[in-house]
Amino acid sequence: MDNKQVYLQGQYLPLSEAKVSVLDRGFLFGDGVYEVIPAYQGQLFQFAAHIERLNNSLKSIRLDVAYDLAQWQAILEPLLIEGDAQYIYLQITRGVAEKRDHAFPAQIEPTIFAMCSPIPLVEKLEGVSAITLDDMRWQLCNIKATTLLANVLLRQQAVEQNCAEAILIKDGYAIEGAASNLFIVLDNILITPPKNADILAGITREVIIQLAQDNNMACVEQPITETALLQASEIWLTSSTKEILPVIQLNNKVVGTGEIGTVWHRMNTLFQHTKRVVS
Ligand SMILES: Cc1ncc(COP(=O)(O)O)c(C=O)c1O
Repeated sequence: MDNKQVYLQGQYLPLSEAKVSVLDRGFLFGDGVYEVIPAYQGQLFQFAAHIERLNNSLKSIRLDVAYDLAQWQAILEPLLIEGDAQYIYLQITRGVAEKRDHAFPAQIEPTIFAMCSPIPLVEKLEGVSAITLDDMRWQLCNIKATTLLANVLLRQQAVEQNCAEAILIKDGYAIEGAASNLFIVLDNILITPPKNADILAGITREVIIQLAQDNNMACVEQPITETALLQASEIWLTSSTKEILPVIQLNNKVVGTGEIGTVWHRMNTLFQHTKRVVS
């Protein structure tokens, strides 16, 4: 095992020594939230936006952790390791209760855990395959909750069909990936579903929308029907660790020309530039 230093409950210690009680509500119920924050050349990327989303997730599950941006930075920065692209995984659970009971315990200290890992190199320039699957997750997908069993089962189905990701369909609409947001290009317009409780408000998604605006690229936030998805000339899946992943095959059929699209090339160039200059 990689015995890197991790953060647990106010201490930095080797991964092999980081232990959590079996009565932790994260273990028993998945009662917790998390963040994945990328860092490029030692600089946390879009850090304030990630902490804002973390605070929204914490508020949604009624968990009070009162660290400000500077305090989170002081906790997380020492974890950054050598290398160009890394990500911090930060998880907060409701903590260790005295007994197993779904209801919140009266007095409890949240468990805070964080570690840093390299971002695996994805061969974006080759494009990937995806499948569509029914979205069978819960109704609060805007919360970045550790309770990810539905996402795990969906992604496993994708992997077993040699696909990089599953695109989730709900009531005839394409929503997002099992662990990513969705963009399509249709009639030269970039479209991504609007922010609501059906999707996680991706930080990468937000960066792309901003880059489109700043560079006069037509981009709208509107629902994407399954039919529009199947007609799209380009499909992208976005996340902090995948960045902008072009999908060139969907359900065993080519997307657009079957090659990575020109809009992707333009946006990816802008994105690669942004991640080097903005922290
Ligand atoms: C369900 C889901 N949607 C979207 C995203 C993308 O979010 P971000 O760009 O902040 O990584 C993720 C990230 O893991 C996710 O799990």
